[in-house]
Amino acid sequence: MSVMKNFLNVILILCVCLNWRFTEGAEKKESGKADSYTFQVSFLFPSSSTCVLSSKAPNTKSSIRVVHMHGTCSHLRSNKDASLDHDEILRCDQARVESIRSKLSKKNNADGISMIKSTELQATIGKTLGSANYIVTVGIGTPKHDLSLVFDTGSDLTWTQCQPCLGSCYSQKEPIFNPSSSSSYHNVSCSSPICKTGACSASNCVYGILYGDNSFTRGFLSKEKITLTNSDVLDDVYFGCGEYNKGLFFRTAGILGLGRGKFSLPSQATTTYNNIFSYCLPSSPSNTGHLTFGSAGISNSVKFTPISSFPSPSSYGINIVGISVGDKELEITPASFSTKGAIIDSGTVITRLPTKVYAELRRVFKEKMSSYKATSGRSIFDTCYDFTGVDTMTIPKIAFSLGGGTVVELGRMGILYPLTQSQVCLAFAGEDDLPAIFGNVQQKTLEIVYDVAGGRIGFASNGCS
Ligand SMILES: *[C@@H]1O[C@H](CO)[C@@H](O)[C@H](O)[C@H]1NC(C)=O
Repeated sequence: MSVMKNFLNVILILCVCLNWRFTEGAEKKESGKADSYTFQVSFLFPSSSTCVLSSKAPNTKSSIRVVHMHGTCSHLRSNKDASLDHDEILRCDQARVESIRSKLSKKNNADGISMIKSTELQATIGKTLGSANYIVTVGIGTPKHDLSLVFDTGSDLTWTQCQPCLGSCYSQKEPIFNPSSSSSYHNVSCSSPICKTGACSASNCVYGILYGDNSFTRGFLSKEKITLTNSDVLDDVYFGCGEYNKGLFFRTAGILGLGRGKFSLPSQATTTYNNIFSYCLPSSPSNTGHLTFGSAGISNSVKFTPISSFPSPSSYGINIVGISVGDKELEITPASFSTKGAIIDSGTVITRLPTKVYAELRRVFKEKMSSYKATSGRSIFDTCYDFTGVDTMTIPKIAFSLGGGTVVELGRMGILYPLTQSQVCLAFAGEDDLPAIFGNVQQKTLEIVYDVAGGRIGFASNGCS
């Protein structure tokens, strides 16, 4: 009897749940929240000759344009870049991931800048820095000298190549900054308490950053004026005036550091911007996005998740608690991410997931894409489709559930990596031995707010086009 009663109770609960889920589904549909994207395949392959400026950049004085370094909106681009070299981008991406691995395993000093010996430099020539492949242009010095820098949430100290390039400089597009022609340039003295790098040259403080992939920059730790926009100027910013730089930094002049450490630009500008910045990476290399300092203009629809100090207090850790593909919640346990953790990184291209999680994502994705013709993989991709002759396609939406109950729905350009129309791949890869990395393909068109002072990162859809 009581067994029967329990049985009926279970049925009742099941019915209530199913009914509730059904209602929720119906509501979702009613409010236009489908679990897939339908769009023209050609949308994946934007014009290779024009640049479309984002109409959505926040209208604040502290907003600058973000472009893909190889794209049509980049003035660093050359004829050689007319078609993107995807194999090179993916190869560099793997180097970036290695660099993150070694950074996390070494437990660098908190400042991320330290002394590197010249013997170490000799051993590293010819290696490359991973593809932190979005750039911004800022003015350095007085009069200001416009320089294009890679913007990187994985780096702290901003640096640029400096004349007279005593060691050596790689070739960059813009003229190399000459500190002796800037009236606002100051050397940092070795006796300054900020100079903890342990190296001096003629009583000036020397910095060195050896990136995990063996790229490096070395030179003088200095102070300078940085002009973001004509009405927005930061005085006395610590930066690296690099006179010995090696690595594949493309034709950029250096790096704009947006990390969590005390030498990063937002940390140094805490009084002006409250250690808050936000950005939106454009949908394609033929569109522009933005990088904005301060909280002005941040959308009300941004939902926040706490910044985690695991796996490392020097990176932007996030807590991934679930992933859904279309209407399916992946069967992964919270433990999937608990051993290595997860970070968000502006410079990693393809999102890396623990191999078990990736396998589950791939399984469900393939199921939803079964009406399309599968084709061979390439580089780190193993799930690719041939869309030859296909006009309009429907792909499942992918959403990440993060700590604090925040759900981040990826944009329609954040799911696939378009190599050619006959080879469009699922833009994720499996990688154990490493925290999961929420990469920049997945970040496309999301408004991402780093409220470092508030210990939280926020996400909203449609931050730029
Ligand atoms: C900074 O130090 C370098 C190297 O010692 C020196 O050549 C330069 O004149 C100094 N610049 C200023 C503004 O003091």
